[in-house]
Amino acid sequence: MHLKVLILGGGNGAHVHAGIAASNPDNEVRVLSLFQDEAERWSKALESSDLVLDYTDVDGKEQQFVSKPGLITNDPKVAVPGSDIIVFVVPAFAHAQYWEALKPHMEPGMVVIGMPGAAGWEFQAYDILGDKAKGITFFNFNSLPWTCRVTEFGKRADIVGFKEHFVGAIRKGRVEPKVDPLKAIQQSLGPLPVCAAYGDLLGMTLTYTNAFIHPSIMYGRWHDWDGKPVSESPLFYQGLDQTSADLLSSVSGEIVAIAKAICAKNADIDLSNVKHISDITLDFYADDIEDKSSFLRMMQSNKAYEGLRHPVTNNEGGGVSPNFKFRYLCEDVPFGLVVHRGIAEIVGVPTPNIDKIITWGQGLIGKEFLVDGKITGKDIGMTRAPQRYGFTTLDAILGDHL
Ligand code: NAI
Repeated sequence: MHLKVLILGGGNGAHVHAGIAASNPDNEVRVLSLFQDEAERWSKALESSDLVLDYTDVDGKEQQFVSKPGLITNDPKVAVPGSDIIVFVVPAFAHAQYWEALKPHMEPGMVVIGMPGAAGWEFQAYDILGDKAKGITFFNFNSLPWTCRVTEFGKRADIVGFKEHFVGAIRKGRVEPKVDPLKAIQQSLGPLPVCAAYGDLLGMTLTYTNAFIHPSIMYGRWHDWDGKPVSESPLFYQGLDQTSADLLSSVSGEIVAIAKAICAKNADIDLSNVKHISDITLDFYADDIEDKSSFLRMMQSNKAYEGLRHPVTNNEGGGVSPNFKFRYLCEDVPFGLVVHRGIAEIVGVPTPNIDKIITWGQGLIGKEFLVDGKITGKDIGMTRAPQRYGFTTLDAILGDHL
């Protein structure tokens, strides 16, 4: 099918999606970047060059995608009209300005895809788009299909790895989507990863794993830190200890309990896509895990996590200290755990472990989200907790008011 693909963003993932999609002549590819002069720089880079993506295929052979996306712009009125699918490939903290920019130009039947949308993506959309959200189909994934890095801005990127399977969830608008959402995203991504969709859209918000993996492991390693520099940055996953693994498992258990409580209140909601972290890890990384004897050993022996270390800053006098300003707390708490906690509050599920981590993390980043057991802190305006949008019922977070 002839497919009009609009990609939002200008970073690693946006380069790769634009390059792969444009390598299929059936796709008409536009990119919208609202960040500084990024669109202008990327356009200029492509005047004298193709966009080249380097990767190694399954047989170990070096391969490339070589293409040229049709349009790179910062102008939504040029980019948005006529699009069949619009794909968010930009970190969550930057999403609001894209929803605002899309809104005036959105047409019923468009399909908007979060890749990843991260936790609370749809709440922000329902709030900003208002009535316009009625005609839109939302399709959220909880990750990016590749591990990838830009190597030369605008011109070249490395695809370090492709996911094999890529699972999301769809919420159809009241208007039939212009294209089949699953076929369309697959056509824009090429044969790998193999895309699928099941369960309610809310399931993607609840299983956005960065939201709880990073803050849980940060808490486990540093909550009783004595403030003295350590000799080197500890391994993030390989260095996990039993207590931290248990905490992460308990946090994930609280999220599964939230999903169960929602389904108990409304039997029509399918949250079978909300799984415990040990099952998610096995789904994602079955071939990368050497020892599946326990959750701790799965995390420690996952080759995909090899060598990843805690974010740190160097100390003048030697050694390193944890960097609490890194995205593992600054983004993953307000755009992750706080969203989960807000949903728990609506359905009345106690979350003692999530609360403990938010209380610790919000202090370190100088914010206030959870106060006296409620998501009412003065900084909830910077989060995507449902309460921030005035959504305080299950119907509201499911988009049933649309
Ligand atoms: P990135 O870090 O490359 O994104 C940078 C882009 O974000 C910039 O080029 C700009 O377009 C935008 N941006 C940055 N600061 C901004 C600001 N202050 N205001 C407005 N826009 C701003 O992101 P990447 O690597 O493409 O990842 C996209 C999403 O996918 C993220 O949520 C990331 O966590 C996730 N992800 C990335 C993976 C990877 O291998 N790159 C792997 C798995 C998930």
